[in-house]
Amino acid sequence: MTDTTRAEDLVARLCGGIRHRRMYFSSHPEVQASARVIALGLRAFLDETGREFFFLGLAQGRLVHDGRLLVGSTLLGRRLVEFLERLRCGGLLFRAGIEDSDVLALFDVAAGLGAPTAGLEESRALLRAAGVRRIELSPPYEDAGWLGQFLYDREESGGRLEKPEADDLVPVYQSLFDTVDVAHSRAAAGRSLDVDHARSVVEGLLAAARGGFTDILRLVRYPDYDTYTVGHSVRVALLAVLVGNRLGCESSFLTELGAAGLMHDVGKAKIPEEILYKQGPLTPDERRIVSQHPCLGAQILLEHRNAGPLAVASAFGHHLRHDRRGYPQTEAWAATSRVTALVQVCDVFEAITAVRPYKGAQPPRRAYELMVADAGAYDPGALRAFVSAMGLYPPGSRVALATGERAVVLAAGRAIDRPTLRLSHAAGGEEIPEVDRPTIDLGAPESATLSIASLLVD
Ligand SMILES: [Fe+2]
Ligand SMILES: [Fe+2]
Repeated sequence: MTDTTRAEDLVARLCGGIRHRRMYFSSHPEVQASARVIALGLRAFLDETGREFFFLGLAQGRLVHDGRLLVGSTLLGRRLVEFLERLRCGGLLFRAGIEDSDVLALFDVAAGLGAPTAGLEESRALLRAAGVRRIELSPPYEDAGWLGQFLYDREESGGRLEKPEADDLVPVYQSLFDTVDVAHSRAAAGRSLDVDHARSVVEGLLAAARGGFTDILRLVRYPDYDTYTVGHSVRVALLAVLVGNRLGCESSFLTELGAAGLMHDVGKAKIPEEILYKQGPLTPDERRIVSQHPCLGAQILLEHRNAGPLAVASAFGHHLRHDRRGYPQTEAWAATSRVTALVQVCDVFEAITAVRPYKGAQPPRRAYELMVADAGAYDPGALRAFVSAMGLYPPGSRVALATGERAVVLAAGRAIDRPTLRLSHAAGGEEIPEVDRPTIDLGAPESATLSIASLLVD
């Protein structure tokens, strides 16, 4: 595990623990298990490396670790960011020898702190009184201008993304996640949804992406055990918009498509969390309850006049197979819209290629194999459109060429195994400086001798 991944994992687990502590008492097995895993992981890491502490910082509302901005974690780790902001601190310092009791006490404070403290001293006293011994609050950064020095990269992605570009996209991701998160919480509470807001957020995405979706797909890949329903919906929306864009759909249609992707699982808000986040196989009864989410989602959306037919249809039909198996059961005459068929493909592809609490991510090629083998599950036109838009190596993937060079995929090509790439590493393994990285179109005649040897999986 790289240091960045460790920090991302820690953020995901802290958020999961805080969420569980807000729902349950401190003695609940979920809360206890979160604290145990966090303390154990940190202890093992600090023992192994001989370091005194592990530091997770907060600067300008963003999580940072070891000079790197944790873009994905900042988006999904909102609970933690808000908690640290209320503590008016610049981060958490986890000391060697940290115990479960320290983490549990931190969760207690997080669950109880509704408003900002008066300042760092009050926050420190609060932690002490709760019994936190080996987690310390660091002072807020006086001058966060140093943030500008960092490149917003992820160690394991191999590629670097310059600050201004990522800076444009961060608020867009933030609003996509917020839109789904807020929609799900409002639906759970029986309150009205703002589907127009979802549309305007997708419009913002289209404007920021300017037709290039590489960075978007790259930056939304990170572990998010806790809020995976939200992350899943955002990625389904991004995939659908990417395919639609590639098919040449006009932007008003892409907006509807993106909103439909964002809202497709809103019915899950009505499914009890114990079932939704259950770490093991579901009982037949639990499966029956989960299978109600498409109907519930369509009902929730239908209650709002501005929902739009594509969003309602996608929420209702995204688990209905092309051969009419799946759920919910419908009459034989009921046709499935093209958009629903596409959302269904994106939904399954995302689920196979993403990390879940109970499984690792599979490479896209494996996802295609599984999907093609499941005859009758998908609308052939939708599956074909999806594969040709994504290619065997979706934008943002890292690949090794037969020459030994490494590259990042920028866009799918005309042939599914000949995308456009940007070289990142020479054949000897040396990283190529950002400004010197050549772009190669594998579909061009002059690249005929080049080929991709393998997909590099994070
Ligand atoms: Fe679903
Ligand atoms: Fe889904």
